[in-house]
Amino acid sequence: MGEHKKIAILGGGNLGEALAKGFASFIDPSDIIVTRRHLSRLEHLKEKGFVITSDNLEAVSKSRYIFLCVQPKQVAGLLNEIGSVLDVDNHVLVSTITGVSLDAINEYAHGDFAIIRAMPNTAVAISESMTCICGNKLAESHIPKVEEMFRALGETLIIEERLMKAATVLAASGIAFFLRYIRAATQGGIELGFEAEEAQKIAMQTARGAASLLVEGSAHPEREIDKVTTPQGCTIAGLNEMEHQGLSSALIKGIVASFEKINRITE
Ligand SMILES: NC(=O)c1ccc[n+]([C@@H]2O[C@H](COP(=O)([O-])OP(=O)(O)OC[C@H]3O[C@@H](n4cnc5c(N)ncnc54)[C@H](OP(=O)(O)O)[C@@H]3O)[C@@H](O)[C@H]2O)c1
Repeated sequence: MGEHKKIAILGGGNLGEALAKGFASFIDPSDIIVTRRHLSRLEHLKEKGFVITSDNLEAVSKSRYIFLCVQPKQVAGLLNEIGSVLDVDNHVLVSTITGVSLDAINEYAHGDFAIIRAMPNTAVAISESMTCICGNKLAESHIPKVEEMFRALGETLIIEERLMKAATVLAASGIAFFLRYIRAATQGGIELGFEAEEAQKIAMQTARGAASLLVEGSAHPEREIDKVTTPQGCTIAGLNEMEHQGLSSALIKGIVASFEKINRITE
């Protein structure tokens, strides 16, 4: 690949590294440039054939897709730093940064760029992310390519930017919500007599099985619940007690509280 053909991942931290590894399933690692300031922490990627550098300008000048993977407070400085080599005709900016709008990125980049926002979750590290994607008008023709890249790392959904904060709550914070359920089920299992590891194994695989029933069967949750709830049986007794204690209501209120908070702390 020649000029502007590589992929630059600026900010090779948790997410940047996971993206690099995922993209390497269909792009030669020698065409993926990963940057960070503490370069020694990327040595293991170099051994796998990735290009590593702390020179963001060099990475951008050789690349077409520029993935921004730094912390929110670092993005303005980063875009200012690479401004001299950013070129509206050659570069597509892909931001994974939570809470920074397409307009804000455009403003920091000082130009009318094709800009895409992608919101993955931490399961990106095992290629099981749920990644919501949106873009500005100029990015329309690039969205299929970027969606294809993220599909190598899990499921994707193209959404309007106005839903990006809701997507952050449902998919990114959502990881914590589901994990807390698994933790609680594990604690319940221990009380019933299982060792902690056994209870967690049962809870984890049962959660995976429940999700897979929906994903693979395209079913509605209530239809699958009906199959397990024998009249006057133990499952419906447990389920109804959970609802009396406010299970669905607690989850919905928690999701809405997260959404209210993200609206207060981001623009
Ligand atoms: N982790 C996730 O699964 C996830 C999911 C959705 C969204 N996000 C978003 O993705 C972004 C990164 O998250 P993260 O968890 O990967 O954070 P992180 O581990 O802190 O990674 C950020 C990286 O950026 C590097 N960096 C900072 N300034 C830089 C610069 N000027 N040039 C090059 N590299 C620079 C830092 O390394 P040095 O200090 O060595 O430069 C660090 O490794 C955040 O904005 C977050 O909101 C993350």
